[in-house]
Amino acid sequence: MEYTQIRDLLTGKQVDKTIHLRGWVARKRSSKKIAFLTMRDSTGRIQVSVKADNDNAFNTATNLGYETALVIEGLLSKDDRAPGGYEVKATNIEVVGKSENFPISKDQSQEFLLDVRHLALRSQKMTAMLKIRSSVFEAIHNYMRKEDYTEVQPPIFTTAGSEGGSTLFEVKYYDKEVFLSQSWQLYAENFIYSLEKAYTIAPSFRAEKSKSARHVTEFWHAEIEATWLDFEGLLELMENLISAICLNVAKKNAYELKSIGKNPKDLKKIKPPFPRITYDDALKLLKEKSGLDVPYGKDLGQTEEREIGKYFDKPVLVTHYPKEIMAFYKKVDPTNPKVCLNANLIAPEIGEIIDGSERESDMDKILESLKQDGTNPEEVDFYLDTRRYGSVPHSGFGMGIARVVMWICGFDTIKDAIAFPRTIARIKP
Ligand code: 4AD
Ligand code: MG
Repeated sequence: MEYTQIRDLLTGKQVDKTIHLRGWVARKRSSKKIAFLTMRDSTGRIQVSVKADNDNAFNTATNLGYETALVIEGLLSKDDRAPGGYEVKATNIEVVGKSENFPISKDQSQEFLLDVRHLALRSQKMTAMLKIRSSVFEAIHNYMRKEDYTEVQPPIFTTAGSEGGSTLFEVKYYDKEVFLSQSWQLYAENFIYSLEKAYTIAPSFRAEKSKSARHVTEFWHAEIEATWLDFEGLLELMENLISAICLNVAKKNAYELKSIGKNPKDLKKIKPPFPRITYDDALKLLKEKSGLDVPYGKDLGQTEEREIGKYFDKPVLVTHYPKEIMAFYKKVDPTNPKVCLNANLIAPEIGEIIDGSERESDMDKILESLKQDGTNPEEVDFYLDTRRYGSVPHSGFGMGIARVVMWICGFDTIKDAIAFPRTIARIKP
């Protein structure tokens, strides 16, 4: 038996032919004369009609529950009244797997949908998200490999963090306490002495105390590091990667984007160059346009970043943050020692999606920063070998994939951009 996927049925190529489709019942309604099922598979949704004079099929169609798995034989017909413009007139319905009292119906709270996330993944919204997310991963791999970056796998069990101690998850490792990786940072800067250009897509863990709409405790992190890459080159790499991601999603996921109310054309407009402002300019903008008084030296948080995002129709690069709020490995601007050669890419509505910098290549300066941070240099001694043996200029960045997906999909919480999100309050299912 040959089965046709719904996406292919909706092209109309098999119109007026007998087709076989397999999938699940997403919706149903019936009158005395006719029953309508909305069938879904991984590729889309199509209406199926069953006439009452077809006793067996009508009886099955009217008595089944949401998410029953079916094989349907029927005639594919053009019908402008049906969503998608086609309908299958069923001649035979076979129940493959029954489903009674499926827990999800209309208008349920977000918390309930998270409680049954394993089932909510079947929704149109989640199916679209999963496919878009997959295209984001694909675009990163394709783009970085095209640029001659080598993919590497850093360890997840680590003995030191790079992004500050407060968000480290401790785990028992035999008789020692170790940490789950926050970032590949300390390993990245070693990989490049062998590869020059390296990237990874790996899970990162942060013991975030906040319940913000954009923080989770486990996220997939795309991180890039390269020797000889200067600050300007780094900013261009951020822009080009984001643009490549948007283009790939627009090309591969037009159907999914439309199903969640997004226009693929808008994504195609996300092209370099992106606007650039310094941290100083950002403070001025916040004061003059938004009436927000942010003291110099305070990091920009969600509120400030969302405000900044409002004034641009593309992601905006905010550069040159004060040295005192930057991690020890970020390079100080040689023309202004108060700030670093760093940038955050701020997406409209979301805020920071990428964080990167040129790295400090001078051993003495790194040691000085570690001292100021209160980090014991012995803890990161293996990392310091990068500066001991043939140190070179280099740069890199990290991009939170769920934040990118959240932005592309226009979701109001990062939890919707992850299949099984983990937060301070949720670790199940
Ligand atoms: O800004 P972060 O902490 O930077 C680093 O980890 C650097 N070592 C990256 C690098 O240069 N290789 O994290 C990088 C990105 C953020 O911009 C954000 O997109 C994402 O990771 N991120 C989170 N996403 C979801 N939930 C969280 N709790 C996140 N924390 C960071
Ligand atoms: Mg950051």
